[in-house]
Amino acid sequence: MPLCLGIETSCDETALALVEDGKLVAQRMATQAAAHNIFGGVVPELACREHLRAIDLLYKDLFQENNIHDVDVVAVARGPGLLGSLLVGMSYAKGIVLSTGTAFVGVNHLHAHLLAPLLEAEIPFPALGVLISGGHTILYNMDSPYDFILLGQTLDDAAGEAFDKAAKTLNLPYPGGRYIDKLAAMAIPDTAMFPRPYINNPGLDFSFSGIKTALVQHVQANPFLRTPKMVNSLQELGYALKDPFHMKELAKVCASFNWAVADTLRIKVERAFKTKAKKAKSLVLAGGVAANSMIRNTITQTAKRLNLTCVLPKPDLCTDNAAMIALTGELYFKKGLVHDLNLDAIPRGRKIPWDFKPK
Ligand code: KG4
Ligand code: ZN
Repeated sequence: MPLCLGIETSCDETALALVEDGKLVAQRMATQAAAHNIFGGVVPELACREHLRAIDLLYKDLFQENNIHDVDVVAVARGPGLLGSLLVGMSYAKGIVLSTGTAFVGVNHLHAHLLAPLLEAEIPFPALGVLISGGHTILYNMDSPYDFILLGQTLDDAAGEAFDKAAKTLNLPYPGGRYIDKLAAMAIPDTAMFPRPYINNPGLDFSFSGIKTALVQHVQANPFLRTPKMVNSLQELGYALKDPFHMKELAKVCASFNWAVADTLRIKVERAFKTKAKKAKSLVLAGGVAANSMIRNTITQTAKRLNLTCVLPKPDLCTDNAAMIALTGELYFKKGLVHDLNLDAIPRGRKIPWDFKPK
C-alpha cells in the first residue's frame, strides 16, 4: 500500500497530508486568512512568505506526531495557482525527493478538487464534474480519475470571486463566501433582485462579473447595507448593524445573491447533462464554493431530478486541502504516472500539460 505525502500551497493555505490506500492518515494545515483579511484578498507576496514560514513546521509536526519516517510517493499541487506560492510547495517537495529518492507526482489542483470525494465515497464514472472555487468555475466530463474533458468555464470572475467581491462591497471579511452563506440562511431570497448572469445562450460557459456589478449598484442605492466598519464575525456584524431592519435587509440581499448564483449553476448543470454529458452517472460538486449550503441543496435536488448520484464532499474537503493532493498523487502513482525533478509549476491561466514520465 503506497503511503503518499501531499503538499498544497497553491493559494493561501499551507497544507500537508498523508494518504494510504485512498484513506486519509493525518494532515496539518495553516491558513493565512487572517494575514490577508485587512487587504480584502490574497496578497501574493505575503502568501509565499507565509507558506515558507509554515511549511517546515507543519512537515515536522505531521511526521513526528504520527511517528512516520518515510513515504513511497511525494505529490505536490503544481498548479494552477499563484506562482510564488506554488514554488514554495514545489521546491519543498523536490528537496524531499532529491534527498530520499522517493517517487514524485505533480498534481493538477483542479482535478484534485473533483477527486477529493473519493476519500469518503465512490464516484460512479462517467461523472459530470462541477468545480466552483475562488479562482475557477468549470464543468468537466470525467470519464475516469485520469480523463477530464472541459465542457465550459467562466469567461471572467469565478463563482467564489463573485462571492468574495460581493462580501467586500458589503464590508464583510475576506474570504466572504461563508459570511454570505450564513447571512443568506437567515432570509428568503427575492428571486427578482439580481439577474442570473449569462444564461440566455446555448453554451456551458459562465460569467459572474455582471451579478457583482448588480450588487454594487444595489448597495450604492442602499448604503445602509454596508457595515460602517469591517467586522470579523457575524456577532460583530450584529453589533455594527444595530438596526434589526438593516440586518434583515442585508440577509435578504445575501440570500438573493446566493440564489442567483445557485440557480445559474443549476441551469448550466442541467444543460450540460442534456447536451454534452448525456452518459453521466453522477454529479460531482467540488471546490470551496461547494461548501455553500444553498448551492449544496440546489445541486442535490438537481441530481435527484436528473437521476444522477450526487457526490458532495463534506465542507472541509471542498476548500483547499492537501488530502485531495495526496489522494490524487497516490492514484496516479499506482497507475504508473510520475514526474521527474524537471516538473514545472503552472500559474493560473495556463493549461496544465499531461507530461507524466514512465515509471
Ligand atoms: O477551493 P478554494 O478553497 O480555493 C481556491 O482554489 O480558490 O475556494 C475558496 C473560495 C473562496 O472564494 C471562498 O469565499 C469560497 O470558496 N467559499 C464559499 C464558502 N466557503 C468557501 N463560498 C460560498 N459559501 C461558502 N460557504
Ligand atoms: Zn482550490
